[in-house]
Amino acid sequence: GFVGCNPPPPRLGSGLTRRQAREPIVTAETEPLASLAWLVEAGADEAMSDAPANRFAVAKLAPPKPALSVELPKGSQARREIAPTEGDPIGSAINLARAAQSLAELKAALESFDGCGLKRTATNTVFADGNPASRILFIGEAPGRDEDKQGQPFVGRAGKLLDKMLAAIHLDRSRAYITNVINWRPPDNRDPSPEEAAMCLPFLRRHIELVNPEVMILLGAVAMRHVVGKTDGIMKSRGRWIEYNVSGRMVPVMPTLHPAYLLRQPAHKKLAWRDLQAVEQKIASLHLLERMAAEG
Ligand code: URA
Repeated sequence: GFVGCNPPPPRLGSGLTRRQAREPIVTAETEPLASLAWLVEAGADEAMSDAPANRFAVAKLAPPKPALSVELPKGSQARREIAPTEGDPIGSAINLARAAQSLAELKAALESFDGCGLKRTATNTVFADGNPASRILFIGEAPGRDEDKQGQPFVGRAGKLLDKMLAAIHLDRSRAYITNVINWRPPDNRDPSPEEAAMCLPFLRRHIELVNPEVMILLGAVAMRHVVGKTDGIMKSRGRWIEYNVSGRMVPVMPTLHPAYLLRQPAHKKLAWRDLQAVEQKIASLHLLERMAAEG
């Protein structure tokens, strides 16, 4: 039985006590007893907790819980005010690049972008060189030491060889446009990491859209990997036209060997020269030099 309770009053056949049957059951004083009787009636025969709990005292209300069961992260209110490159640098790169309406705006956007760690160790942002109106776009890998110092692509030894490659097909920097996948020099000229490339790629995509080329030449495996996503080796892919979608228009792309590689493997220059012949033919068939001359 209940500890400290009197035995329940005798019951009538209806299950009510004599008193319940006789008079209104619930008053301020009788309610606790009536509840107890009800519990006994229902078969309760022992107290469950060691200490008695006064269920009739007004409970102290806990502060109301927010409607959402998931607590909002601390400082979530301030999130909108955080500098745009924090948190999602690739998303910021996409937004910055998309907003650029001219090459000058894109260059300024790159210079204001702090999401890529390479910028911290670089001296300059290396954007592009040559004539953007030429519609003939060469894409290299990343600036080296000389490029980082001068803020211009392909000005070191590899750049001198690139100039010779251009001259071999009657081009120069006034009749071609040159940029890189990566806009800041990787320390010790190491390969850019996938993250570093991912942060530069939105700018490169927009760069290509704004230049709106008729022909593209990818210099080396890094450019091929990041521009067209091909990872099967430059030796295998070089010399064969592939395509790149520029704002809905398919543009012919020639992957070839990088001039820095050719400096190390001069025996392979003849392969690159062969690829460049194909580029020259394409330029001729599209009348690009005549069109450039006509456009002034
Ligand atoms: N190598 C590249 O890929 N780009 C440069 O600008 C210089 C060297």
